[in-house]
Amino acid sequence: MKRYYIRTFGCQMNVNDSQKMAGMLKSLGYEPARSWEEADLILVNTCSVREKPDQKVLSALGEFKKIKNKNPDAIIGVCGCLAQRAGYEILQKAPFIDMVFGTTNIHHLPQLLKEAQAGNKAVEIIEDIDENETELDRYPTVRDSIYTAYVTIIRGCDKKCTYCIVPYTRGRERSRRIGEILQEVQWLVEDGVKEIHLIGQNVTAYGKDLGDVKFHELLYAVADIEGVERIRFTTGHPRDLDEETIKAMAEIPQVCEYLHLPIQAGSDRILKAMDRGYTQKEYLKKIELLRKYIPDIALSTDIIVGFPGETYQDYMETIKVLKEVEYDQVFAFKYSPRPGTPAAQMPVTEDSETVSRWLSDLINIQKEITFKKNRAYENKVVEVLIEEEKDGKLTGRTRTNKLVHIDGEHNLLGEIVKVRISKANRFSLEGELAEKLV
Ligand code: SAH
Ligand code: SF4
Ligand code: F3S
Repeated sequence: MKRYYIRTFGCQMNVNDSQKMAGMLKSLGYEPARSWEEADLILVNTCSVREKPDQKVLSALGEFKKIKNKNPDAIIGVCGCLAQRAGYEILQKAPFIDMVFGTTNIHHLPQLLKEAQAGNKAVEIIEDIDENETELDRYPTVRDSIYTAYVTIIRGCDKKCTYCIVPYTRGRERSRRIGEILQEVQWLVEDGVKEIHLIGQNVTAYGKDLGDVKFHELLYAVADIEGVERIRFTTGHPRDLDEETIKAMAEIPQVCEYLHLPIQAGSDRILKAMDRGYTQKEYLKKIELLRKYIPDIALSTDIIVGFPGETYQDYMETIKVLKEVEYDQVFAFKYSPRPGTPAAQMPVTEDSETVSRWLSDLINIQKEITFKKNRAYENKVVEVLIEEEKDGKLTGRTRTNKLVHIDGEHNLLGEIVKVRISKANRFSLEGELAEKLV
């Protein structure tokens, strides 16, 4: 039997695509390899959102190249966002690659594989959206987690934030038909899944291109499926997050009290240059509305530091927002110019060391806020879905997406239990079992 190994970089979209590719390979008779050294097929699913992931891909390829010494028939394939953006370039830099395909050609993996096995370079990078790409959705995912699952509801992005490569690597927004989404959720629940995580670059724009369904209606429909215990969704764009959606979040018992709502920057001038489509005040209004409907909601965000033209005053506006909102978690990155994006043409004014210092100061400020947020859980009882059992410790997540480690008890995998939190750490909580729930 042939064995595959998939290395995935990037966001949940890539993770889900890899899970689907694994499902596809399974249907072709492949089984997973324990390590890349034992594989007959290595797939590298790439990300290109910043320069660092680009570099990581190239160094991974340098490592995987060695497989050819041991197994000359082994096939190495590159897919995902970097392949879409610069597939031919990668092929030149790493001529030992057998297969390169873009983000809308994944469903052609079986044909590409055949071509590569026949000794040809199998390349398919199509600029236009392939109408048949949804064939991919028919394959069941192969997942690490038994109890939680991603479901792609929308692909691509129409927003064109000036720094971002995603619209170029993933194409325009297209929503999956609601019937197909619900069918997949149904299958997942029958397979034992308790938590459904709806994903897309821009989930709150779901349905806009279909015309007859909106995101909040999808939320109600998913919640109506028996066996769905928890619902999450990422990523929502602040511009499309409307009151109907917030109301649905509050009303539907399964929708978890957690939202990732990227702000990117606090300064109105920078937000405008980024073309985010909101001001700081408008963003904060959305947070206020969220907290009005869902008082105990946990929040996280993405921040870019050092966008072209950002001054210390602009940066301090971001810090002001962090202190005001008090996010549970912040993902902060140094601005990285992406080829072909409008921001890549804008002059960068601050030197790199200053931006690095801003970033590390910001991370330190947030660390304390996160710790404070975690400490507020001490002595509280929370619901935890147990996802892992290892070395006598159970691990799961609260509805607010906090990681919890629990001592003792066994045979609770996949159960939702009540846990009394005894200790808060910076990145996780510890607790004891209080009561079994479901
Ligand atoms: N669709 C999501 C974001 C996808 S990209 C949204 O709009 O929120 C994930 C994160 O990467 C972004 O939120 C942003 O913070 C970061 N990012 C994207 N392009 C970047 C760039 N050129 N430099 C630095 N960070 C970037
Ligand atoms: Fe990129 Fe903006 Fe689209 Fe997010 S909304 S994927 S940041 S263009
Ligand atoms: Fe990266 Fe592509 Fe996702 S660029 S963040 S893998 S959409």
